Amino acid sequence: MAANDEKTLFTPSQEVVDQANVKEYDQQYAFSLEQPEVFWAEQAAQLSWYREWDKVLDKSNPPFFNWFQGGRTNIILNAIDRHLLSATRNKLAVIWEGEPGDTRTFSYHALNREVSQFANILKSMGVKKGDVVTIYMPQIPEQLFAMLACAKIGAAHSVVYGGFSHEALADRINDANSRVVITADGGYRRGKVVEMKSVVNKAMELSPTMEICITVKRTGIEVYMENDRDYWYHDLKSLPIASNKCETEVMDSSDMLFLLYTSGSTGRPKALVHTHGGYSVYTATTHRMVFDIKPEDRYWCAADPGWITGHSYIVYGPLINGSTIMLYEGAPNHPYPDRWWKIVEKYGINILYTSPTAIRGLMRFGDSWPNRNDISSLRLLGSVGEPINAEAWNWFHKVVGRGNCPIMDTWWQTETGGFVIAPLPITPLKPGSATKPFFGNELAIVDDAGNEVAAGEEGTLVIKTPWPGMAKSVFNDPQRFISTYWEKYSKQGWYHTGDSAKKDEDGYYWIIGRNDDVIKVSGYRLGSAEIEGVMARHPAIVESAAIALPHHLKGNAIHITAVLRNNYKPSKELELELMLHMEEHLGKIARPEAIQFAELLPKTRSGKIMRRLLKSRAMGLPDGDLSTMEE
Ligand code: WT7
Repeated sequence: MAANDEKTLFTPSQEVVDQANVKEYDQQYAFSLEQPEVFWAEQAAQLSWYREWDKVLDKSNPPFFNWFQGGRTNIILNAIDRHLLSATRNKLAVIWEGEPGDTRTFSYHALNREVSQFANILKSMGVKKGDVVTIYMPQIPEQLFAMLACAKIGAAHSVVYGGFSHEALADRINDANSRVVITADGGYRRGKVVEMKSVVNKAMELSPTMEICITVKRTGIEVYMENDRDYWYHDLKSLPIASNKCETEVMDSSDMLFLLYTSGSTGRPKALVHTHGGYSVYTATTHRMVFDIKPEDRYWCAADPGWITGHSYIVYGPLINGSTIMLYEGAPNHPYPDRWWKIVEKYGINILYTSPTAIRGLMRFGDSWPNRNDISSLRLLGSVGEPINAEAWNWFHKVVGRGNCPIMDTWWQTETGGFVIAPLPITPLKPGSATKPFFGNELAIVDDAGNEVAAGEEGTLVIKTPWPGMAKSVFNDPQRFISTYWEKYSKQGWYHTGDSAKKDEDGYYWIIGRNDDVIKVSGYRLGSAEIEGVMARHPAIVESAAIALPHHLKGNAIHITAVLRNNYKPSKELELELMLHMEEHLGKIARPEAIQFAELLPKTRSGKIMRRLLKSRAMGLPDGDLSTMEE
C-alpha cells in the first residue's frame, strides 16, 4: 500500500457546502471547547426527555463521568416513540434485503409494533430492567427488533458477532450473567446457510446461567430444541402475551443501555457499558452533522450490527434522527461483485458508510461492476475501522462517488460510542486522514510522559475532555476501566486511546494504528492474548505469539509464532490443523494468515513476549532496543 500523501486536498463543491447541516467548523469547535456544557445542552434539547437533566456533566467521580445527570429518558423514546407523533410515523424506518433477494420493509409505525411485541415476549420470559440479554443473530430485521425491545423494557443487550465460535459466545454469556439468548436457526452467506442455533446450543452447554433461548426461523434448517428452554419466536408471537402495545420503561440517563464486548491488549474480552442519555445525544448529533442527514435520505451503513458501528450508526443514531435505514443480510460479492451497487441503485441510497477492507475487497473486481449500475443517488460516503490507504480512498471517491461525494473518514472506538475525529461535509479532505476532532473533543498527540509531540511526529492519541458518548465503565469491573484507559495519563486525567497517530501542520490527524497488542483484521478487533489463549488449548502447543502484519485486503493479518511440544514436528499439515483450530474455537476472522514454528519465543527478563521484536524481524526492520531481553 502506498503511503498517504498529506498535500492533496479535496475541497467540497459549492453544492455540498450550500446544503450542509453545519456550515462552519472553527468557531463552533472553539465554542464547544470553551463551553462544552452549553454546547451539549443545546444538542440534548433537540431530543425528548421524560424529565430534563439537573446537570449536563457531573465530574465528581472521574473517570466515571455522568452525563445529563438527573435526566430521565429511554433511547426508545427518541428512536421510536416520538416519531409516532409526527409524519415520520408513516415513513420507512427499515428497508431490508436478504441475501437470497427476499425483502421486507417497516415504517416507524410498523417498527413500533414489532418492537413492542418482542418487548412483551421478553417480559413474559421474566426479563426485567437491568437484566442482560444476549443476541447472536444473522442480519435480519429481528436482530434490530431484539435490540430495541431490550432497550424499551430497560434490559441491556449484549450483541455477540455472529462469526464468533460457541466458546467465544459462552465466555460472553457467562461474563454477562445472561439468562436469555436470542438467535435464529441460521442466516445466508455466499449462498450457503450459516448455522447459528446449533452454535448457541453448544454454548448453552458451557453456560450455567443460560435458561431460555428464543429462536427466529430464517432458513428452515433442522435444529435441536429442548422443552422449557427453547422457543420459536413465531410461536411466541402468535400468543396473546405478544401484544403490540408496550410502555417504554423510564430510565435514568446513566442507566445501562447495552454491553458490548471488545478485545484489549491483555486478558479476556471485556464488556464496555453504554448508557441511555449521553449515548443518545452523542450518536444522534454526530450522525446528523457528519453524515449531513436530510429527512428524505436513504442511509446505508453496511456494517454488522454486532459491532459498535452497527449499534451507533445502523441502529441508534439513524433511528433517533428518523432516517430510513438500509439493512442487507449477506456478502457484498454474492452472487456477483455488484450486489452492493445493485442495492444502491434499487433503493436509491444516498449515503453509504463502510470500511476500508470492504472497499479494497470490491475494488479488486474492477470499475466495471459499479459502472454498470446507476449509483448516482449517492451523495456522501463514509469509512471506518482502520486507516484507509490512498488507493482505496481514491477508488471510493472516483469510481463509487464519481468524484463528487465527500468521504467521511470517521475515527472512533467501541469505547467512544461515536465519532471522535471526523470531517464534516464542508471540511477539505486529505485522503487517509480522519481530519479534525468532532465538536466538544479536545485531543492531543503525546509521548509517554504526556508531553505534546511536535507537528508531524508520531505519538499516542489521547482525549483530554469527557464527551457524552463515552463508555460508562467495564461491566462488573470498574477497576479494569481505570487501568485500561485512565491509568497511563492519570495525572492529567486523559483518556488513553491505544492508538498511535500524528497531527500535521494543518491540524489534521493521521491515525497510524494500535500501539498495544490489539490486532485489527479486516477492521475487526482481536487481542493477541485472546488468540494465544485459544492456540494454547491445542495439544501441540506450548506457547505462541500473535502479531499483526500488513495485508493488501485485510489491512492487517494475524501471524503466529508457535513453540511445539516435544512429540510434535513442524509441518504444513499441522499448520493447517492449527488454522482450523482457531476458526473453530474463536471464529473465522481469527484464522491466522501463517503459523511459523520456533524453538523459543523472544522474551523480556520479566517473561513478557516481545511481540514488537517478532514484528520488526518479520518486516525486515531494525530490532530496536533489546536491553530488556532475557539471555
Ligand atoms: C480502533 C477501534 C469505531 C468503529 C469500528 C472500530 C481503529 C477505527 C478508524 C479510522 C483509522 C481507525 C483504531 C481504533 N480505527 N476507525 N477511521 N482510521 N483507524 O471499533 O473495534 O472498537 O476499534 O479501530 O485503531 O482504536 P473498534
